[in-house]
Amino acid sequence: MNLLHPITTPRALIRVVNASDAARVWRYRVANREHLAPWEPLRDASYFTVEHCIHTLAEMHRAVQQDRSYAMVALDLAGEEILASFTLANVMRGSFQACHLGYSVAAHWQGLGLMREVLGAALPWAFHALDLHRVMANYMPSNQRSGRLLEHLGFEREGYAKQYLQIAGRWEDHILTARLRTESA
Ligand SMILES: CC(C)(COP(=O)(O)OP(=O)(O)OC[C@H]1O[C@@H](n2cnc3c(N)ncnc32)[C@H](O)[C@@H]1OP(=O)(O)O)[C@@H](O)C(=O)NCCC(=O)NCCS
Repeated sequence: MNLLHPITTPRALIRVVNASDAARVWRYRVANREHLAPWEPLRDASYFTVEHCIHTLAEMHRAVQQDRSYAMVALDLAGEEILASFTLANVMRGSFQACHLGYSVAAHWQGLGLMREVLGAALPWAFHALDLHRVMANYMPSNQRSGRLLEHLGFEREGYAKQYLQIAGRWEDHILTARLRTESA
């Protein structure tokens, strides 16, 4: 598996994050603080510091080395700024070969089909390069954008989990979906 070689789409370069991304990750967090707050856990003020980003990137690097989690960024074609990010987290091997997918797009890129473009290219990579069989993605019923995105990408509803994740300080129900590996994906 070559994790260093980016995947290219018409509008983005997709690759695993690395230590050189600290300033980029910091700018993404600060610029999208309000946009992402309703859909993420509560963040301490320290989350929005460069030091925290450096620490996070070191942990993400360890997680990749240990095949636990793959934090990815979609950059502009010049490789300068982060347009979107996603993580293939909680990788479980053995007879499960599965992970959880989480994602976000920068506020000013919303509604332009970028996340669909990025995940549309990244999911075949996840199934083949990472040898996954099932990618699970879960969303709050009120997050209709996320639900439509998953439907477009071929995720199917598998269930409904009450008080599944603590988001913005509240235990929120989630709709559970998954996409399975197929011959063509
Ligand atoms: C959820 C989220 C990632 C969706 O990102 P997005 O880029 O807006 O989603 P899509 O890629 O599906 O594009 C959305 C719309 O762009 C439109 N669009 C415009 N140009 C397009 C193109 N070239 N290709 C595809 N869609 C295009 C589509 O009509 C689509 O709307 P539709 O679903 O009604 O058809 C984004 O809203 C986000 O970051 N939200 C906050 C964080 C979050 O909710 N994360 C997920 C938690 S579960």
